[in-house]
Amino acid sequence: MKEIVNNFEEDIRINGPVEIRNEALQKFREVVEEYYVNNNVDADLIEQLAKHNQQVEDFVRDYSGEDKESFDVKEREIAILAAIFHDITKVSGDFLDHGKDGGRIAEKILQENGVSFELAHSVSLAIERHMGGEEGYPGRMAKKEFGKKFKYPIYKTRVAQMVYECDILTQLTPEGFEKILLLRENDEENRIEDEKVAEEKRITRKEASILSALQSAKESLSFIKMKFIEEDANKFWDEMQKKYRDLIEK
Ligand SMILES: [Fe+2]
Ligand SMILES: [Fe+2]
Repeated sequence: MKEIVNNFEEDIRINGPVEIRNEALQKFREVVEEYYVNNNVDADLIEQLAKHNQQVEDFVRDYSGEDKESFDVKEREIAILAAIFHDITKVSGDFLDHGKDGGRIAEKILQENGVSFELAHSVSLAIERHMGGEEGYPGRMAKKEFGKKFKYPIYKTRVAQMVYECDILTQLTPEGFEKILLLRENDEENRIEDEKVAEEKRITRKEASILSALQSAKESLSFIKMKFIEEDANKFWDEMQKKYRDLIEK
C-alpha cells in the first residue's frame, strides 16, 4: 500500500490529523466524472450528476462543520469522500445496486490513491447503504418489496445516515427538484402516468409531473431523522409548497 497522504489544507476546518489533501479531493471528483464518461453516460446527465454530487458534498460539509453536530475529524473526512463517490455507478450499473457497487469502486480507487485501508473501507460502508434500506434499496422501493418486514432506517454508521439524509435533502431544493422533473420527463413509464393524471385533473403533463414529484419529495421528508437536517428539510418543503400552492389547490 502507498504511503498515507498527510497534509490536508485548512479548507477542511478540522483540528486533528487528516489524510487527504484538497487536490486529492478535486482529483477524486474528476475520477468520478471520468467514470461517467467511460461508461457512456450522456453529457447532459453527467452535468446533472456532477451538480448533484457537489450539492450533497456541500450539505455534508455544512452539517459536519464545527458549529453543527459533533462529527469528528475522521467522520467528516469519510462523509466528504462518500458524497463525492456515492453515485458513481448510479446510471451505468444496476440502479438498485448502485450503493453496493459504488462502495466497492470507491474503496478500490481510494486505496489505489494512497488512502489508508481503514478510511477507504469506512467510506465504502457509508456509500453502501446510502439509499437507506438494509437490502440496499431506496427506502420507498424496499417498503413496497418487503412490506412490514422492511426495517428502516438501517445504517452501519452515523456518517452513513448523515450522507443518506443529505442525499435526500437535495430532492427538496429547487435544483434537486428540477433534476427529478427531468428524470420523470425522460422515463417512459412516468410520462404515461403523468399523462393519465393530466387528463383526469385537466392539467398539463408538466403540472402532473410536478404534483407527482412533490408527492415523492414529501415522502422523502419522512425519511429524514437527524434533527439539524430535518429543520432545513422542513424549511425547503414549506418553500416548495408556497411556490406550487396554486397547482396543489387545483
Ligand atoms: Fe444514490
Ligand atoms: Fe445521490
